Amino acid sequence: MGKFCKCNGRLLCMCLLPFMMTGHLLVYILVTIFVTISYTPPKTPVHFIAPGSSSSSAKMAPHPLNPFWNLRQIDTALWNHLQHGCDRLYNPLLRGNTSIATQLTKTRLVWCMSDCMPEVGLHTTSNKVKSMSDQMRAFVSSMHCREYPYIINQPGLCSSNETLDTPLLLMAIKSQSGNLENRQAIRETWGRSGHVSGEYNIRGGLVRTVFLLGKQEYKPNSKIHDLLEKESKTYGDILQWDFNDTFFNLTLKDVLFWRWFQQYCPKAVFVFKGDDDVFVRTDALVDYLNKQWEEHSLWQAYTNETDKGLDLFIGEVINNARPNRDPSTKYFIPESFYQGSYPSYAGGGGVVYSGSLALRLKEVSDKVSLFPIDDVYLGMCLSKLGVVPSHHPGFLTFDLPNTQRGNPCAYKSVLLVHRRNPREMIALWNHLRNLRMRCFR
Ligand SMILES: *[C@@H]1O[C@H](CO)[C@@H](O)[C@H](O)[C@H]1NC(C)=O
Ligand SMILES: *[C@@H]1O[C@H](CO)[C@@H](O)[C@H](O)[C@H]1NC(C)=O
Ligand SMILES: *[C@@H]1O[C@H](CO)[C@@H](O)[C@H](O)[C@H]1NC(C)=O
Ligand SMILES: *[C@@H]1O[C@H](CO)[C@@H](O)[C@H](O)[C@H]1NC(C)=O
Ligand SMILES: *[C@@H]1O[C@H](CO)[C@@H](O)[C@H](O)[C@H]1NC(C)=O
Repeated sequence: MGKFCKCNGRLLCMCLLPFMMTGHLLVYILVTIFVTISYTPPKTPVHFIAPGSSSSSAKMAPHPLNPFWNLRQIDTALWNHLQHGCDRLYNPLLRGNTSIATQLTKTRLVWCMSDCMPEVGLHTTSNKVKSMSDQMRAFVSSMHCREYPYIINQPGLCSSNETLDTPLLLMAIKSQSGNLENRQAIRETWGRSGHVSGEYNIRGGLVRTVFLLGKQEYKPNSKIHDLLEKESKTYGDILQWDFNDTFFNLTLKDVLFWRWFQQYCPKAVFVFKGDDDVFVRTDALVDYLNKQWEEHSLWQAYTNETDKGLDLFIGEVINNARPNRDPSTKYFIPESFYQGSYPSYAGGGGVVYSGSLALRLKEVSDKVSLFPIDDVYLGMCLSKLGVVPSHHPGFLTFDLPNTQRGNPCAYKSVLLVHRRNPREMIALWNHLRNLRMRCFR
Protein backbone atom coordinates (compact mmCIF):
# COMPACT_ATOMS: atom_id res chain seq x y z
CA MET A 1 0.00 0.00 0.00
CA GLY A 2 2.76 2.35 1.04
CA LYS A 3 4.41 2.01 -2.31
CA PHE A 4 1.29 3.18 -4.13
CA CYS A 5 0.94 6.17 -1.91
CA LYS A 6 4.48 7.20 -2.61
CA CYS A 7 3.99 7.28 -6.31
CA ASN A 8 1.40 9.84 -7.26
CA GLY A 9 1.41 8.92 -10.94
CA ARG A 10 0.51 5.33 -10.25
CA LEU A 11 -2.17 6.35 -7.78
CA LEU A 12 -3.65 8.60 -10.38
CA CYS A 13 -3.60 5.64 -12.76
CA MET A 14 -5.42 3.40 -10.29
CA CYS A 15 -7.98 6.04 -9.45
CA LEU A 16 -8.68 6.88 -13.08
CA LEU A 17 -8.93 3.25 -14.20
CA PRO A 18 -12.61 2.78 -13.23
CA PHE A 19 -13.52 6.02 -15.03
CA MET A 20 -11.65 4.98 -18.12
CA MET A 21 -13.36 1.60 -18.12
CA THR A 22 -16.78 3.22 -17.73
CA GLY A 23 -15.86 5.58 -20.54
CA HIS A 24 -15.00 2.67 -22.84
CA LEU A 25 -18.23 0.97 -21.90
CA LEU A 26 -20.13 4.13 -22.73
CA VAL A 27 -18.43 4.41 -26.13
CA TYR A 28 -19.16 0.74 -26.77
CA ILE A 29 -22.83 1.22 -25.90
CA LEU A 30 -23.07 4.31 -28.10
CA VAL A 31 -21.45 2.54 -31.02
CA THR A 32 -23.75 -0.44 -30.56
CA ILE A 33 -26.80 1.77 -30.53
CA PHE A 34 -25.58 3.62 -33.58
CA VAL A 35 -24.92 0.42 -35.50
CA THR A 36 -28.32 -0.95 -34.54
CA ILE A 37 -30.08 2.20 -35.67
CA SER A 38 -28.25 2.42 -38.96
CA TYR A 39 -28.71 -1.28 -39.70
CA THR A 40 -30.40 -2.05 -42.99
CA PRO A 41 -31.67 -5.56 -43.55
CA PRO A 42 -30.00 -7.54 -46.34
CA LYS A 43 -31.65 -7.04 -49.71
CA THR A 44 -34.26 -9.68 -50.42
CA PRO A 45 -33.52 -11.45 -53.66
CA VAL A 46 -35.49 -10.07 -56.60
CA HIS A 47 -37.89 -12.68 -57.82
CA PHE A 48 -37.70 -13.91 -61.34
CA ILE A 49 -39.89 -11.77 -63.50
CA ALA A 50 -40.80 -12.79 -67.01
CA PRO A 51 -39.44 -10.28 -69.48
CA GLY A 52 -41.81 -8.28 -71.63
CA SER A 53 -43.71 -6.94 -68.65
CA SER A 54 -45.48 -3.70 -69.30
CA SER A 55 -44.29 -1.95 -66.15
CA SER A 56 -42.16 1.14 -66.47
CA SER A 57 -39.51 -0.35 -64.20
CA ALA A 58 -37.88 -3.40 -65.68
CA LYS A 59 -36.99 -4.85 -62.30
CA MET A 60 -40.31 -4.92 -60.53
CA ALA A 61 -43.47 -6.50 -61.84
CA PRO A 62 -46.46 -4.17 -62.08
CA HIS A 63 -49.18 -4.88 -59.60
CA PRO A 64 -52.75 -3.71 -59.24
CA LEU A 65 -53.20 -0.82 -56.82
CA ASN A 66 -56.51 -2.05 -55.52
CA PRO A 67 -58.15 -5.44 -55.23
CA PHE A 68 -60.25 -5.65 -58.37
CA TRP A 69 -63.32 -7.01 -56.69
CA ASN A 70 -64.63 -5.44 -53.60
CA LEU A 71 -63.77 -7.43 -50.52
CA ARG A 72 -66.87 -6.24 -48.73
CA GLN A 73 -69.97 -8.17 -49.37
CA ILE A 74 -72.06 -6.74 -52.22
CA ASP A 75 -75.46 -8.34 -52.09
CA THR A 76 -76.77 -6.51 -55.12
CA ALA A 77 -74.35 -8.20 -57.52
CA LEU A 78 -74.67 -11.94 -57.83
CA TRP A 79 -71.10 -12.81 -58.77
CA ASN A 80 -69.59 -10.63 -56.03
CA HIS A 81 -71.98 -12.21 -53.54
CA LEU A 82 -71.04 -15.76 -54.50
CA GLN A 83 -67.32 -14.98 -54.61
CA HIS A 84 -67.55 -13.47 -51.17
CA GLY A 85 -68.86 -16.79 -49.90
CA CYS A 86 -66.06 -18.58 -51.73
CA ASP A 87 -63.39 -16.29 -50.31
CA ARG A 88 -64.69 -16.84 -46.80
CA LEU A 89 -64.74 -20.57 -47.29
CA TYR A 90 -61.10 -20.62 -48.35
CA ASN A 91 -59.85 -17.91 -46.01
CA PRO A 92 -57.04 -19.48 -44.00
CA LEU A 93 -57.95 -17.37 -40.98
CA LEU A 94 -61.49 -18.68 -41.00
CA ARG A 95 -60.71 -22.17 -42.11
CA GLY A 96 -59.62 -23.17 -38.64
CA ASN A 97 -63.13 -22.40 -37.48
CA THR A 98 -65.06 -25.35 -38.83
CA SER A 99 -68.32 -23.93 -37.60
CA ILE A 100 -68.14 -21.17 -40.22
CA ALA A 101 -67.31 -23.63 -43.00
CA THR A 102 -70.20 -25.90 -42.09
CA GLN A 103 -72.43 -22.90 -41.73
CA LEU A 104 -71.51 -21.83 -45.26
CA THR A 105 -72.13 -25.32 -46.55
CA LYS A 106 -75.48 -25.36 -44.89
CA THR A 107 -76.51 -22.09 -46.41
CA ARG A 108 -75.56 -23.50 -49.78
CA LEU A 109 -72.91 -20.92 -50.40
CA VAL A 110 -70.62 -23.50 -51.93
CA TRP A 111 -70.78 -22.23 -55.48
CA CYS A 112 -67.11 -22.65 -55.85
CA MET A 113 -67.26 -26.36 -55.14
CA SER A 114 -68.51 -27.52 -58.53
CA ASP A 115 -71.61 -29.21 -57.25
CA CYS A 116 -73.78 -30.12 -60.20
CA MET A 117 -76.82 -31.27 -58.30
CA PRO A 118 -79.85 -29.48 -59.75
CA GLU A 119 -81.27 -28.54 -56.36
CA VAL A 120 -78.12 -26.54 -55.65
CA GLY A 121 -78.76 -24.34 -58.67
CA LEU A 122 -79.65 -20.72 -58.13
CA HIS A 123 -83.24 -19.76 -57.76
CA THR A 124 -83.69 -18.50 -61.30
CA THR A 125 -87.20 -17.47 -60.43
CA SER A 126 -85.97 -14.59 -58.28
CA ASN A 127 -86.82 -11.19 -59.69
CA LYS A 128 -83.17 -10.23 -60.10
CA VAL A 129 -82.41 -13.24 -62.30
CA LYS A 130 -85.73 -13.07 -64.15
CA SER A 131 -84.92 -9.60 -65.42
CA MET A 132 -81.62 -10.74 -66.96
CA SER A 133 -81.06 -11.50 -70.65
CA ASP A 134 -81.59 -15.05 -71.90
CA GLN A 135 -77.89 -15.77 -72.24
CA MET A 136 -77.19 -14.37 -68.75
CA ARG A 137 -80.01 -16.43 -67.29
CA ALA A 138 -78.74 -19.57 -68.99
CA PHE A 139 -75.32 -18.87 -67.50
CA VAL A 140 -76.61 -18.20 -64.00
CA SER A 141 -78.73 -21.34 -63.97
CA SER A 142 -75.66 -23.53 -64.59
CA MET A 143 -72.76 -21.52 -63.15
CA HIS A 144 -72.45 -23.78 -60.11
CA CYS A 145 -71.65 -26.71 -62.34
CA ARG A 146 -68.29 -27.53 -63.87
CA GLU A 147 -68.44 -31.29 -64.15
CA TYR A 148 -69.18 -32.32 -67.71
CA PRO A 149 -68.31 -35.73 -69.14
CA TYR A 150 -66.14 -36.17 -72.23
CA ILE A 151 -67.85 -37.02 -75.47
CA ILE A 152 -64.44 -37.38 -77.14
CA ASN A 153 -61.20 -37.66 -75.13
CA GLN A 154 -57.56 -38.01 -76.15
CA PRO A 155 -55.79 -39.62 -73.20
CA GLY A 156 -52.69 -40.54 -75.21
CA LEU A 157 -51.99 -37.19 -76.86
CA CYS A 158 -48.95 -36.41 -74.72
CA SER A 159 -47.98 -39.73 -73.19
CA SER A 160 -47.88 -42.33 -75.93
CA ASN A 161 -44.12 -42.33 -75.51
CA GLU A 162 -43.01 -40.81 -72.22
CA THR A 163 -39.48 -39.87 -73.16
CA LEU A 164 -40.15 -38.59 -76.64
CA ASP A 165 -43.59 -37.07 -76.28
CA THR A 166 -43.17 -34.30 -73.76
CA PRO A 167 -44.26 -31.30 -75.80
CA LEU A 168 -42.45 -28.02 -75.56
CA LEU A 169 -45.70 -26.40 -76.60
CA LEU A 170 -49.24 -27.71 -76.31
CA MET A 171 -51.63 -25.71 -78.47
CA ALA A 172 -55.17 -25.76 -77.10
CA ILE A 173 -57.50 -24.16 -79.61
CA LYS A 174 -61.13 -23.32 -78.90
CA SER A 175 -63.23 -24.45 -81.80
CA GLN A 176 -66.79 -25.47 -82.59
CA SER A 177 -68.11 -28.63 -84.20
CA GLY A 178 -68.98 -26.81 -87.43
CA ASN A 179 -65.58 -25.11 -87.89
CA LEU A 180 -64.08 -28.03 -89.72
CA GLU A 181 -62.34 -25.83 -92.28
CA ASN A 182 -60.62 -23.75 -89.63
CA ARG A 183 -59.27 -26.83 -87.93
CA GLN A 184 -58.05 -28.30 -91.18
CA ALA A 185 -56.28 -25.06 -92.13
CA ILE A 186 -54.66 -24.87 -88.68
CA ARG A 187 -53.44 -28.48 -88.91
CA GLU A 188 -51.84 -27.73 -92.26
CA THR A 189 -50.25 -24.48 -91.21
CA TRP A 190 -49.38 -23.01 -87.83
CA GLY A 191 -50.87 -25.77 -85.68
CA ARG A 192 -49.05 -28.70 -87.28
CA SER A 193 -48.43 -31.41 -84.70
CA GLY A 194 -44.87 -32.66 -84.52
CA HIS A 195 -41.38 -31.25 -84.31
CA VAL A 196 -41.24 -27.58 -85.27
CA SER A 197 -37.93 -25.86 -86.02
CA GLY A 198 -37.41 -22.40 -84.67
CA GLU A 199 -37.23 -19.42 -86.98
CA TYR A 200 -33.57 -18.79 -86.17
CA ASN A 201 -32.71 -21.59 -83.78
CA ILE A 202 -32.87 -24.96 -85.52
CA ARG A 203 -33.40 -26.73 -82.21
CA GLY A 204 -37.13 -25.99 -82.12
CA GLY A 205 -39.34 -28.29 -80.12
CA LEU A 206 -42.21 -30.72 -80.09
CA VAL A 207 -45.62 -29.14 -80.68
CA ARG A 208 -48.93 -30.89 -80.02
CA THR A 209 -52.30 -29.47 -80.98
CA VAL A 210 -55.69 -30.17 -79.45
CA PHE A 211 -59.08 -28.60 -80.22
CA LEU A 212 -61.54 -27.82 -77.42
CA LEU A 213 -65.20 -28.32 -78.30
CA GLY A 214 -68.56 -28.30 -76.60
CA LYS A 215 -71.75 -29.74 -77.99
CA GLN A 216 -73.81 -28.01 -80.63
CA GLU A 217 -77.34 -28.85 -81.60
CA TYR A 218 -78.00 -29.55 -85.23
CA LYS A 219 -80.97 -30.71 -87.16
CA PRO A 220 -81.56 -34.43 -86.68
CA ASN A 221 -80.34 -35.34 -90.17
CA SER A 222 -77.17 -33.26 -89.90
CA LYS A 223 -73.95 -35.04 -90.73
CA ILE A 224 -71.82 -32.83 -88.47
CA HIS A 225 -71.71 -35.39 -85.71
CA ASP A 226 -70.50 -38.21 -87.96
CA LEU A 227 -67.97 -35.93 -89.60
CA LEU A 228 -66.59 -34.93 -86.22
CA GLU A 229 -66.21 -38.53 -85.19
CA LYS A 230 -64.36 -39.34 -88.39
CA GLU A 231 -62.17 -36.28 -87.97
CA SER A 232 -61.30 -37.29 -84.44
CA LYS A 233 -60.37 -40.81 -85.56
CA THR A 234 -58.18 -39.45 -88.34
CA TYR A 235 -56.28 -36.80 -86.42
CA GLY A 236 -56.70 -37.73 -82.75
CA ASP A 237 -56.78 -34.09 -81.70
CA ILE A 238 -60.40 -33.41 -80.73
CA LEU A 239 -61.52 -32.93 -77.12
CA GLN A 240 -65.26 -32.62 -76.73
CA TRP A 241 -67.33 -32.18 -73.58
CA ASP A 242 -71.03 -32.56 -73.06
CA PHE A 243 -72.10 -28.97 -72.55
CA ASN A 244 -73.90 -26.46 -74.76
CA ASP A 245 -71.23 -24.71 -76.84
CA THR A 246 -72.28 -21.08 -76.38
CA PHE A 247 -70.35 -17.83 -75.95
CA PHE A 248 -70.94 -17.63 -72.20
CA ASN A 249 -69.86 -21.27 -71.79
CA LEU A 250 -66.38 -20.65 -73.23
CA THR A 251 -65.02 -20.34 -69.68
CA LEU A 252 -65.90 -23.99 -69.19
CA LYS A 253 -63.42 -24.88 -71.94
CA ASP A 254 -60.58 -23.29 -69.96
CA VAL A 255 -61.58 -24.95 -66.70
CA LEU A 256 -62.14 -28.38 -68.25
CA PHE A 257 -58.96 -28.08 -70.32
CA TRP A 258 -56.92 -27.44 -67.17
CA ARG A 259 -58.34 -30.63 -65.68
CA TRP A 260 -57.51 -32.57 -68.80
CA PHE A 261 -54.01 -31.03 -68.80
CA GLN A 262 -53.35 -32.05 -65.22
CA GLN A 263 -54.45 -35.59 -65.89
CA TYR A 264 -53.05 -36.28 -69.35
CA CYS A 265 -50.35 -33.75 -70.22
CA PRO A 266 -48.89 -32.22 -67.03
CA LYS A 267 -45.31 -32.22 -68.30
CA ALA A 268 -45.88 -29.95 -71.30
CA VAL A 269 -43.57 -26.99 -70.83
CA PHE A 270 -45.78 -24.29 -72.38
CA VAL A 271 -49.40 -23.95 -73.34
CA PHE A 272 -50.86 -21.81 -76.11
CA LYS A 273 -54.56 -21.16 -75.69
CA GLY A 274 -56.37 -19.40 -78.49
CA ASP A 275 -59.21 -19.24 -80.96
CA ASP A 276 -59.50 -21.02 -84.29
CA ASP A 277 -59.56 -17.75 -86.25
CA VAL A 278 -56.07 -16.48 -85.43
CA PHE A 279 -52.72 -16.90 -87.13
CA VAL A 280 -49.65 -17.79 -85.07
CA ARG A 281 -46.02 -17.66 -86.18
CA THR A 282 -45.25 -20.89 -84.42
CA ASP A 283 -41.57 -21.01 -85.37
CA ALA A 284 -40.94 -17.56 -83.86
CA LEU A 285 -42.96 -18.51 -80.79
CA VAL A 286 -40.93 -21.70 -80.33
CA ASP A 287 -37.71 -19.65 -80.44
CA TYR A 288 -39.10 -17.22 -77.88
CA LEU A 289 -40.19 -20.03 -75.56
CA ASN A 290 -36.88 -21.89 -75.84
CA LYS A 291 -35.15 -18.68 -74.80
CA GLN A 292 -37.49 -18.20 -71.83
CA TRP A 293 -36.92 -21.76 -70.76
CA GLU A 294 -33.13 -21.43 -71.00
CA GLU A 295 -33.19 -18.26 -68.92
CA HIS A 296 -35.37 -19.95 -66.34
CA SER A 297 -33.01 -22.92 -66.14
CA LEU A 298 -30.05 -20.59 -65.68
CA TRP A 299 -31.90 -18.74 -62.94
CA GLN A 300 -32.76 -22.03 -61.26
CA ALA A 301 -29.14 -23.14 -61.33
CA TYR A 302 -28.01 -19.76 -60.01
CA THR A 303 -30.46 -19.58 -57.11
CA ASN A 304 -30.53 -23.34 -56.50
CA GLU A 305 -34.32 -23.22 -56.39
CA THR A 306 -34.95 -26.21 -58.56
CA ASP A 307 -38.50 -26.77 -57.34
CA LYS A 308 -39.77 -23.36 -58.41
CA GLY A 309 -41.79 -23.59 -61.60
CA LEU A 310 -41.76 -20.92 -64.26
CA ASP A 311 -44.63 -18.42 -64.01
CA LEU A 312 -44.84 -17.17 -67.56
CA PHE A 313 -47.99 -15.58 -68.95
CA ILE A 314 -47.91 -13.43 -72.08
CA GLY A 315 -50.50 -11.93 -74.36
CA GLU A 316 -52.06 -8.63 -75.30
CA VAL A 317 -52.73 -7.30 -71.81
CA ILE A 318 -55.72 -5.07 -71.12
CA ASN A 319 -55.58 -3.02 -67.90
CA ASN A 320 -58.29 -1.22 -65.94
CA ALA A 321 -61.13 -2.52 -68.09
CA ARG A 322 -64.69 -2.14 -66.90
CA PRO A 323 -67.64 -4.44 -67.60
CA ASN A 324 -69.55 -3.70 -70.77
CA ARG A 325 -72.88 -2.17 -69.74
CA ASP A 326 -74.36 -1.92 -73.23
CA PRO A 327 -77.23 -4.44 -73.37
CA SER A 328 -77.01 -4.70 -77.17
CA THR A 329 -73.54 -6.33 -77.21
CA LYS A 330 -72.76 -9.96 -76.55
CA TYR A 331 -70.29 -8.96 -73.83
CA PHE A 332 -72.99 -7.23 -71.79
CA ILE A 333 -72.68 -7.83 -68.03
CA PRO A 334 -75.46 -6.26 -65.94
CA GLU A 335 -74.76 -4.51 -62.63
CA SER A 336 -76.97 -7.06 -60.96
CA PHE A 337 -74.36 -9.69 -61.90
CA TYR A 338 -70.97 -8.00 -61.43
CA GLN A 339 -69.77 -4.78 -59.85
CA GLY A 340 -66.25 -3.43 -59.91
CA SER A 341 -63.59 -3.23 -62.58
CA TYR A 342 -61.89 -6.16 -64.25
CA PRO A 343 -58.43 -7.36 -63.26
CA SER A 344 -55.61 -7.11 -65.80
CA TYR A 345 -56.30 -9.75 -68.39
CA ALA A 346 -55.05 -10.76 -71.82
CA GLY A 347 -57.19 -10.59 -74.95
CA GLY A 348 -58.66 -14.01 -75.64
CA GLY A 349 -57.50 -14.34 -79.25
CA GLY A 350 -54.45 -16.13 -77.91
CA VAL A 351 -52.21 -16.29 -74.86
CA VAL A 352 -49.21 -18.36 -73.84
CA TYR A 353 -48.49 -19.60 -70.36
CA SER A 354 -46.14 -22.08 -68.77
CA GLY A 355 -47.26 -25.63 -67.97
CA SER A 356 -46.52 -25.18 -64.27
CA LEU A 357 -48.78 -22.12 -64.26
CA ALA A 358 -51.52 -24.16 -65.97
CA LEU A 359 -51.41 -26.60 -63.06
CA ARG A 360 -51.67 -23.75 -60.57
CA LEU A 361 -54.53 -22.20 -62.53
CA LYS A 362 -56.35 -25.51 -62.33
CA GLU A 363 -56.06 -25.48 -58.55
CA VAL A 364 -57.03 -21.86 -58.03
CA SER A 365 -59.97 -21.97 -60.44
CA ASP A 366 -61.83 -24.10 -57.90
CA LYS A 367 -61.87 -21.02 -55.68
CA VAL A 368 -63.09 -18.54 -58.27
CA SER A 369 -66.76 -18.57 -59.27
CA LEU A 370 -67.27 -19.01 -62.98
CA PHE A 371 -67.51 -15.77 -64.95
CA PRO A 372 -69.19 -15.68 -68.37
CA ILE A 373 -66.31 -13.97 -70.22
CA ASP A 374 -63.42 -16.37 -70.56
CA ASP A 375 -60.50 -13.89 -70.85
CA VAL A 376 -61.70 -12.02 -67.78
CA TYR A 377 -62.11 -15.25 -65.83
CA LEU A 378 -58.52 -16.18 -66.68
CA GLY A 379 -57.45 -12.73 -65.44
CA MET A 380 -59.36 -13.31 -62.21
CA CYS A 381 -57.62 -16.63 -61.62
CA LEU A 382 -54.22 -15.03 -62.30
CA SER A 383 -55.04 -12.25 -59.89
CA LYS A 384 -55.95 -14.81 -57.22
CA LEU A 385 -52.55 -16.44 -57.80
CA GLY A 386 -50.77 -13.09 -57.61
CA VAL A 387 -49.44 -13.53 -61.15
CA VAL A 388 -49.46 -10.46 -63.38
CA PRO A 389 -49.97 -11.12 -67.10
CA SER A 390 -47.08 -9.72 -69.17
CA HIS A 391 -47.82 -7.68 -72.22
CA HIS A 392 -46.08 -8.87 -75.37
CA PRO A 393 -46.22 -6.51 -78.37
CA GLY A 394 -46.19 -9.48 -80.75
CA PHE A 395 -49.77 -10.42 -79.85
CA LEU A 396 -52.06 -8.46 -82.15
CA THR A 397 -55.57 -9.45 -81.19
CA PHE A 398 -56.77 -6.27 -82.93
CA ASP A 399 -54.84 -6.99 -86.15
CA LEU A 400 -52.29 -4.97 -88.12
CA PRO A 401 -53.16 -1.61 -89.69
CA ASN A 402 -55.10 -2.11 -92.94
CA THR A 403 -52.25 -0.90 -95.13
CA GLN A 404 -49.79 -3.37 -93.63
CA ARG A 405 -51.84 -6.56 -93.82
CA GLY A 406 -50.64 -7.51 -97.30
CA ASN A 407 -46.98 -6.86 -96.57
CA PRO A 408 -45.27 -10.04 -95.35
CA CYS A 409 -42.39 -8.10 -93.81
CA ALA A 410 -44.87 -6.40 -91.47
CA TYR A 411 -45.21 -9.77 -89.72
CA LYS A 412 -41.58 -9.78 -88.73
CA SER A 413 -42.22 -9.06 -85.05
CA VAL A 414 -45.68 -10.62 -84.89
CA LEU A 415 -46.32 -13.77 -82.87
CA LEU A 416 -50.11 -13.84 -83.20
CA VAL A 417 -52.59 -11.96 -85.31
CA HIS A 418 -56.39 -11.92 -85.20
CA ARG A 419 -58.40 -12.54 -87.29
CA ARG A 420 -57.77 -14.77 -90.31
CA ASN A 421 -60.15 -17.12 -92.09
CA PRO A 422 -58.93 -20.56 -93.29
CA ARG A 423 -58.07 -19.35 -96.79
CA GLU A 424 -56.11 -16.39 -95.45
CA MET A 425 -54.28 -18.67 -93.03
CA ILE A 426 -53.00 -20.89 -95.81
CA ALA A 427 -52.08 -17.93 -98.05
CA LEU A 428 -50.26 -16.17 -95.24
CA TRP A 429 -48.44 -19.34 -94.28
CA ASN A 430 -47.05 -19.82 -97.79
CA HIS A 431 -46.31 -16.14 -98.12
CA LEU A 432 -44.31 -15.99 -94.92
CA ARG A 433 -42.43 -19.16 -95.76
CA ASN A 434 -41.31 -18.06 -99.17
CA LEU A 435 -40.36 -14.57 -98.14
CA ARG A 436 -38.64 -15.47 -94.90
CA MET A 437 -35.14 -14.99 -96.26
CA ARG A 438 -35.97 -11.56 -97.63
CA CYS A 439 -37.37 -9.85 -94.52
CA PHE A 440 -36.43 -11.89 -91.48
CA ARG A 441 -32.76 -11.08 -91.41
C1 LIG B 1 -66.23 -19.77 -34.85
O1 LIG B 1 -67.28 -19.03 -35.48
C2 LIG B 1 -68.49 -18.97 -34.71
C3 LIG B 1 -69.54 -18.28 -35.55
O2 LIG B 1 -69.10 -17.06 -36.09
C4 LIG B 1 -68.19 -18.22 -33.39
O3 LIG B 1 -69.36 -18.18 -32.61
C5 LIG B 1 -67.10 -18.98 -32.65
O4 LIG B 1 -66.75 -18.26 -31.47
C6 LIG B 1 -65.85 -19.16 -33.52
N1 LIG B 1 -64.89 -20.03 -32.85
C7 LIG B 1 -63.61 -19.73 -32.75
C8 LIG B 1 -62.76 -20.74 -32.04
O5 LIG B 1 -63.13 -18.71 -33.22
C1 LIG C 1 -40.43 -44.72 -77.27
O1 LIG C 1 -39.51 -44.41 -78.31
C2 LIG C 1 -38.27 -45.06 -78.21
C3 LIG C 1 -37.34 -44.56 -79.31
O2 LIG C 1 -37.97 -44.56 -80.55
C4 LIG C 1 -38.51 -46.58 -78.32
O3 LIG C 1 -37.28 -47.27 -78.19
C5 LIG C 1 -39.46 -47.03 -77.21
O4 LIG C 1 -39.76 -48.38 -77.35
C6 LIG C 1 -40.75 -46.20 -77.27
N1 LIG C 1 -41.60 -46.53 -76.13
C7 LIG C 1 -42.89 -46.77 -76.22
C8 LIG C 1 -43.62 -47.06 -74.95
O5 LIG C 1 -43.47 -46.73 -77.29
C1 LIG D 1 -73.79 -24.11 -70.68
O1 LIG D 1 -73.95 -25.49 -70.84
C2 LIG D 1 -74.89 -26.06 -69.96
C3 LIG D 1 -74.89 -27.57 -70.18
O2 LIG D 1 -75.21 -27.89 -71.48
C4 LIG D 1 -76.27 -25.46 -70.18
O3 LIG D 1 -77.19 -25.98 -69.26
C5 LIG D 1 -76.17 -23.95 -70.03
O4 LIG D 1 -77.41 -23.37 -70.36
C6 LIG D 1 -75.11 -23.39 -70.91
N1 LIG D 1 -74.92 -21.99 -70.62
C7 LIG D 1 -75.11 -21.03 -71.51
C8 LIG D 1 -74.83 -19.65 -71.06
O5 LIG D 1 -75.47 -21.27 -72.63
C1 LIG E 1 -78.05 -24.28 -76.17
O1 LIG E 1 -77.91 -22.90 -76.47
C2 LIG E 1 -78.74 -22.47 -77.54
C3 LIG E 1 -78.39 -21.03 -77.80
O2 LIG E 1 -78.42 -20.26 -76.64
C4 LIG E 1 -80.20 -22.69 -77.16
O3 LIG E 1 -81.02 -22.31 -78.25
C5 LIG E 1 -80.42 -24.16 -76.83
O4 LIG E 1 -81.74 -24.36 -76.39
C6 LIG E 1 -79.46 -24.61 -75.76
N1 LIG E 1 -79.60 -26.04 -75.54
C7 LIG E 1 -79.61 -26.58 -74.30
C8 LIG E 1 -79.74 -28.08 -74.26
O5 LIG E 1 -79.51 -25.94 -73.28
C1 LIG F 1 -28.14 -26.68 -53.74
O1 LIG F 1 -29.13 -27.60 -53.28
C2 LIG F 1 -28.64 -28.92 -53.05
C3 LIG F 1 -29.83 -29.80 -52.73
O2 LIG F 1 -30.77 -29.14 -51.94
C4 LIG F 1 -27.59 -28.88 -51.93
O3 LIG F 1 -27.08 -30.18 -51.72
C5 LIG F 1 -26.47 -27.95 -52.36
O4 LIG F 1 -25.53 -27.82 -51.31
C6 LIG F 1 -27.01 -26.55 -52.71
N1 LIG F 1 -25.94 -25.72 -53.25
C7 LIG F 1 -25.79 -24.43 -52.94
C8 LIG F 1 -24.67 -23.74 -53.61
O5 LIG F 1 -26.53 -23.87 -52.16
